Amino acid sequence: MDKLIITGGARLDGEIRISGAKNAALPILAATLLADGPVTVGNLPHLHDITTMIELFGRMGIEPVIDEKLAVEIDPRTIKTLVAPYELVKTMRASILVLGPMVARFGKAEVALPGGCAIGSRPVDLHIRGLEAMGAKIEVESGYIKAEAPEGGLRGAHFFFDTVSVTGTENIMMAAALAKGRSVLQNAAREPEVVDLANFINAMGGKVQGAGTDTIIIDGVERLASATYRVMPDRIETGTYLVAAAVTGGRVKVKDTDPTILEAVLEKLKEAGAELTTGEDWIELDMHGKRPKAVNLRTAPYPAFPTDMQAQFISLNAIAEGTGAVIETIFENRFMHVYEMHRMGAQIQVEGNTAIVTGVPALKGAPVMATDLRASASLVLSALVAEGDTLIDRIYHIDRGYECIEEKLQMLGAIIRRVPG
Ligand code: UD1
Repeated sequence: MDKLIITGGARLDGEIRISGAKNAALPILAATLLADGPVTVGNLPHLHDITTMIELFGRMGIEPVIDEKLAVEIDPRTIKTLVAPYELVKTMRASILVLGPMVARFGKAEVALPGGCAIGSRPVDLHIRGLEAMGAKIEVESGYIKAEAPEGGLRGAHFFFDTVSVTGTENIMMAAALAKGRSVLQNAAREPEVVDLANFINAMGGKVQGAGTDTIIIDGVERLASATYRVMPDRIETGTYLVAAAVTGGRVKVKDTDPTILEAVLEKLKEAGAELTTGEDWIELDMHGKRPKAVNLRTAPYPAFPTDMQAQFISLNAIAEGTGAVIETIFENRFMHVYEMHRMGAQIQVEGNTAIVTGVPALKGAPVMATDLRASASLVLSALVAEGDTLIDRIYHIDRGYECIEEKLQMLGAIIRRVPG
């Protein structure tokens, strides 16, 4: 298992390019199944989760063609089996995203239940109930969700999400794109990745309106056609590098991104004392050598502060001036990074869904273990400001969501290397 060794203390300074968004690329790849011709998706990030999705397509008999720029062409007409097996689904929960498109386009699907996950129970009841509202018959049997469309295909439906769910919204929106008649999704997720998916469906000839608001209206169409689409930039990767520069008192310009998709994060960085300048597709953060000030924050569905940036801000607070409270409202049990950061000398108390973080002037390097994707990012950030070396184990979690993290950090002046294990 690869490890990262980071020697803390370097003040970051430089420019990097932001990759395509993992959380937009995954549903968009799943939505290619809806088309009745070849579809090309570009700006895909080079990440394990993307490879897993492509492997899943391979298992279903589709052979995606990948070019040197990592654009993928998928021809869903070559599908042979409508099964997403457990070995793949257990490594990536987002595999559930193929459920809606398969039932809508091919009338049937068997997708393994994702099961428990390190960051809480994360059920998929809303995905199932949404499809049932469209007339699908669903049974959960031997660890698999077995779904079948009714005679004549899925029917448009009104569906209210009692919890805001990002992949839930995406799954039902994809299914509705080919259902008969109109679907109205209420209390839908408003995340920019949901909008990117809607734009992709519309690029194939779909009729989706209202994505980005809490009510999405989808008029089902008979067929969706070939299209070429470019995935949006990754707002979480963007935010992570901004925090990386902020914790070191440094400066970074992140390019090929979009400042309008992470306003809640930018607000918190300003509150922490960062100077921010933005252009159409770039953001520059400069701390002018200052130590950040601690911030209070509460995670909630978009446009509020994203849960996927919570761990990184705990790192920021851990070395900031003052005390900040971080409240996690989306996932239970999403504070595992805190216990690893204790090993580095961080002063953090967890009570229920709140972490009270009192900044210390410097953390201390230690061997630590990555436990999930964003938790591992926070360990990297902490290591950047720790005295001495930090050895981070189990970094396959980082590789699921951050493209070339060590190269990008090296370009900014960090002392980081990967040790193959
Ligand atoms: C997506 C993101 C993930 C992010 C999360 C919240 C992708 C691939 N992943 O995950 O990075 O952290 O949104 O912004 O886009 N819930 C139910 N029933 C369901 C589905 C969800 O109760 O059927 C609950 C979950 O337990 C959780 C909340 O809804 O408490 C939000 O989860 P959800 O938005 O579904 O997360 P994901 O879509 O899995």
